[in-house]
Amino acid sequence: MKLRTTARALCSALLAAHSASALELDLDDKQSIKDAARTAADGMMAFYPGNLTGGIPGLFGDPYYWWEAGAAFGALIDYWYYTGDSTYNDVTTEAMLFQVGEDDNYMPQNQSKSLGNDDQAFWGIAAMSAAEVAFPNPPKDKPQWLALAQAVFNSQAARWNTDACGGGLKWQIFSFNTGYTYRNSISNGCFFNLAARLGAYTHNETYLKWADRTWEWATNPDIGLIGEGYQVYDGTNDVKNCTGLNPVQWTYNTGVFLLGAATMWNQTTGPEQDLWETRTQALLDAAVKFFFTDGSTIMTEAACEPRGNCNVDQRSFKAYLSRWMAATTKAAPWTHDQIMPLLQSSAQAAATSCSGGDTGTTCGMRWTTGSWDGDTGVGEQMSALEVMQSNLIDDVDGPVSQGQGGISKGDPSAGTGGDDPGPSYEPVGTGDKAGAGILTALVVVGILGGAWWLVR
Ligand SMILES: *[C@@H]1O[C@H](CO)[C@@H](O)[C@H](O)[C@H]1NC(C)=O
Ligand SMILES: *[C@@H]1O[C@H](CO)[C@@H](O)[C@H](O)[C@H]1NC(C)=O
Ligand SMILES: *[C@@H]1O[C@H](CO)[C@@H](O)[C@H](O)[C@H]1NC(C)=O
Ligand SMILES: *[C@@H]1O[C@H](CO)[C@@H](O)[C@H](O)[C@H]1NC(C)=O
Ligand SMILES: *[C@@H]1O[C@H](CO)[C@@H](O)[C@H](O)[C@H]1NC(C)=O
Repeated sequence: MKLRTTARALCSALLAAHSASALELDLDDKQSIKDAARTAADGMMAFYPGNLTGGIPGLFGDPYYWWEAGAAFGALIDYWYYTGDSTYNDVTTEAMLFQVGEDDNYMPQNQSKSLGNDDQAFWGIAAMSAAEVAFPNPPKDKPQWLALAQAVFNSQAARWNTDACGGGLKWQIFSFNTGYTYRNSISNGCFFNLAARLGAYTHNETYLKWADRTWEWATNPDIGLIGEGYQVYDGTNDVKNCTGLNPVQWTYNTGVFLLGAATMWNQTTGPEQDLWETRTQALLDAAVKFFFTDGSTIMTEAACEPRGNCNVDQRSFKAYLSRWMAATTKAAPWTHDQIMPLLQSSAQAAATSCSGGDTGTTCGMRWTTGSWDGDTGVGEQMSALEVMQSNLIDDVDGPVSQGQGGISKGDPSAGTGGDDPGPSYEPVGTGDKAGAGILTALVVVGILGGAWWLVR
C-alpha cells in the first residue's frame, strides 16, 4: 500500500516536472476565466477532425460516440454564451445542422447502430441551449434550434412505453440494439430536463405535464430510479418489470434531474412549487453527498474515478453536472449560494489538473490530485471547460423564452416522423458495441465492484 502510494507520488512529480506550464485561473478576474475556458476549448477541439479534409462535420470519431459530440457542441454553445467569443460558432452550427438526420430530429441513419434516447437527447439538449441563450439562428432554409429540440421531444414522447413498468422510456430506440430492455435514468432524465425547458421557453403546459409524468414515474417506489434519499440510480430492466435496479450513481444523472426540477420550480406556483423546491433541494444535497465526497468541495466521479477506471463516456460526465448546476442557479436563484462555492473550488482544482502534455495545459480526469493525472481526451477537456466557464454565470442573463428575448422559431409538430432506421441500416448482433457504451461498463463495474456503492 505504502509502496504504491509512493510510486504514484513519484509519478505525479515526474509528470509535473515534465509540464511546461499550467492553466492559470483567477476566479476574481473575468478575463482570466475566459482565457482559461478558451484554452480548454482549444484543447477539446484539437481532437475534432470534423472540418479537416475527409472529416465529417459533427463527428469526433473513434473512440468518441456520436452522443458525446452533441454534448461537446453543447459545451461550445455555452462557451459563446459565457465568453462572447464566437470563434467556434461556425463550426458548431455546421456540426449541429449536419447531424440533424433525415427527419430533422437527430436520428441520422449513420448512427442507428448505437442510437439511444439519451444519445439523441444530448443533441436535442444542445439545440435547446442554443434557443435559450439566443445563439445565432441557422439560415432560414435550415431547421431552427427550438424546432430541433421540439422534434427530439416529440419523437421521444411517442416512445413513452407502457408495455411494462407502467411507463418510462427505454434506453435504446431500436430493438436490434443491445440495451433495448434497459430503462435508464439518463434517457428519462434528459426527456424530463428537455420537457421542463421546452415548457419554460414556449409557455406550453403540455411539456410541463410530460415533465411531471416522467418525474412521477422515475420516483415511483416500485421503479425507484430516483431513491428515497434522492440518489439517482443508473437504470433498471423492463424484462423484470423494472424491479431489478442497477444502483450505480453518476454525476450527470443527478445533474440532469437537478436542472429539470429547478426549471419546474421556476414554472410553477403555490403548493406545486413547494414540492419542486423540496425536490430541487434534495437533489442538490444528494449531489453534494455523493459527488463532493468526504467533505471535499471538489467534484468527483465517485463510481469510477477513485479507482481510475472511468471509460471514455464517463470521463465527460462532470461537464454536465457542472453545466446543469450553473444553470440551476438561474432557474432557482435560492440555490446560488450553495452551488457557487462548489463550482469555484472545482474549477480551481480542474485548472490545476490542466497541466499536462506538450502545451502544459492538457486537462486530466481527476481534479483532486493537485496535478495532471496523465489522462487526456475530449471528456477531460470538456469537463474542465464547463466547470471553469460556469463561474461566469453571474455575468450572463438567464435563458430567454418566447416573448421574452427568444429569437428561435419553433414547430410544435416537428420530428413526428417514424422510427424507421432506413434502408442503410445493417443489423448488428447483441454482442456488438452498445449505444453510448454505458451498459457494458456497468456490467463490468457490477461484476468487479460488487455492491460497494450501496454502503456509501
Ligand atoms: C475549423 O474551424 C475552425 C472554426 O471555424 C477554424 O478556426 C479552423 O481554422 C478550421 N480548421 C480547418 C482545418 O479548416
Ligand atoms: C454518413 O456516413 C457517410 C459515409 O461515411 C458520410 O459520407 C456522411 O457524411 C455521413 N453523414 C452524417 C450525417 O454523418
Ligand atoms: C409492473 O410495474 C408497474 C409499475 O410499478 C405496475 O403498475 C404493474 O402492476 C407491474 N406489472 C406486473 C405484471 O407486475
Ligand atoms: C425563472 O427563471 C428566469 C430565467 O432564468 C429568471 O429570470 C427568473 O427570475 C426565475 N424566476 C424566479 C421566481 O426566480
Ligand atoms: C403544445 O405542445 C404540444 C406538444 O408538442 C403540441 O401538441 C401543441 O400543439 C402545443 N400547443 C401550442 C399552442 O403550440
